Amino acid sequence: MTQISLIIPTYNESKNIPILLDKLDLCLSGINKEVIVVDDNSPDKTWEIARNLSSQYPWLKVIRRMTDRGLSSAVLTGFEQAEGKILAVMDSDLQHDEEALVLFLSAFDKGANIVVGSRKINGGSVENWSPIRKFVSWVATVMARIALPCKVTDPMSGFFALDRSIYLDNKNKINPRGFKILLEFLARAENAQVQEVGYTFKGRIHGESKLSSRVIYDYIFALYELSLGQYIPARFIKYGIIGLSGLLIATSVIFFCQKFTSFSDATSVAISIELSILTNFFLNNYWTFKENKLFGFWKTFRGIITFHAICLGGAFINQAIAIKMLGYGFDVYLSNALGYLVAAIWNYMINVNITWKV
Ligand code: GDD
Ligand code: MN
Repeated sequence: MTQISLIIPTYNESKNIPILLDKLDLCLSGINKEVIVVDDNSPDKTWEIARNLSSQYPWLKVIRRMTDRGLSSAVLTGFEQAEGKILAVMDSDLQHDEEALVLFLSAFDKGANIVVGSRKINGGSVENWSPIRKFVSWVATVMARIALPCKVTDPMSGFFALDRSIYLDNKNKINPRGFKILLEFLARAENAQVQEVGYTFKGRIHGESKLSSRVIYDYIFALYELSLGQYIPARFIKYGIIGLSGLLIATSVIFFCQKFTSFSDATSVAISIELSILTNFFLNNYWTFKENKLFGFWKTFRGIITFHAICLGGAFINQAIAIKMLGYGFDVYLSNALGYLVAAIWNYMINVNITWKV
C-alpha cells in the first residue's frame, strides 16, 4: 500500500513546482509515495508544467480544477483522490522544509495520528518575517489556543499530516473555506494523538503569497464557529451587530430631524424607526443571510413586508416584557433592555424561519 500521499495545492507556482518535485524525488527516494498536485487552473499554467514532469516522476499525479477555488478545498480534493495510509499537505512554494517529512513519518511510527509541522517549538522558526506578520501570526495562534481544546503551538500550519482514519472519520464535518483546514481537523478529531515537528518556514523566492485579509476574516469566523458558535450561532451575532447599527441610524435620523426640520418628536421617531427597519433589512440581506439572499423586485418586496411584520411583533414583545418587569418594580432601563433582548431573539428566530428561509 502507498505509505504516504502528499497533497500539494498550487496557484501560480510554475517557477516553484519543478524545484520542489526535484527535491521530493531526492529526499523521499526510498518511500512508497504518491504526490498529488492540485492546481486551480492557474493562469501561469502550473498544471501543465507539472503534467509534463509526470513522465519523469511515476509517483506524480496532477489534478487541474476548473471551477472550484481555494486552498482548503484544494486540499480536500487531493485527500479524496489519495490512496496512502498517511495523508500529508505541503505548500508548493518552497517555504516548507521537505526534510521534515521524514520526521513526520517517524512520528506516525511512534503512535501519532496527526502530525503538525511547527514554526514555534524547538527546531522551528521563521525566516525574514516582518514584525507585523509576526504579530498577526502571534494573535492568531493565541486566539486558536483559547478557542480550541487542542493545544498545538502552530494551529495555522499549512504543513501537516493525518492518518487516513482521522480523515475518513471527519471528512463530512469539514468546512472547506479559506486556509484553516488543519484547524478543522484539530477541532473535530476526538481521538487525536497530535505530535509536532519543528521546521524553518523559509522566505518566498518566486511568486507571491495568496494570504489576504479575506483569509484572515475567514479564519476568525472559523474559530468562532468551531468554539462558541456551537451555542450562539455566528449569524445571531451578525444580526445583533446590525441591530445595534439600527439604533445608531435611528438616533442620527432623530438628530437630523430635530436640527433641520420642523417635524414633531413623534414624527421624527416614526421616520427613524422606519428607516432603521429598512436599513436593517438590507444589511441583513447582504451580510447576515448572504447565503440565502433575497433578490429580484418581488422577492425583496415580500421580504421587506415580512420583516416589518416580524419587527412589529418584536416591538409588542419588547413592550409586554418591559411593562411586566416595571410591574415587579424593576428599573425602566433594565426592563426595556431585557424586553429588547428577548425581542431580538424572537426576531432572529422568526426571520431565519420565514423571511430568509431557503
Ligand atoms: N489550489 C490552490 N488554490 N492552491 C492555493 C490557493 C488556491 O486558491 N491559494 C493558495 N494556494 C497554494 C499556494 O500555491 C501555496 O502552494 C500554498 O497554497 C500556500 O499559499 P501561500 O499563498 O504561499 O500562503 P502563505 O505562505 O502566505 O501562508 C502559509 O502560512 C500560513 C500561516 O502563516 C501557508 O502554509 C498557510 O497554509 C498557513 O496557514
Ligand atoms: Mn507561501
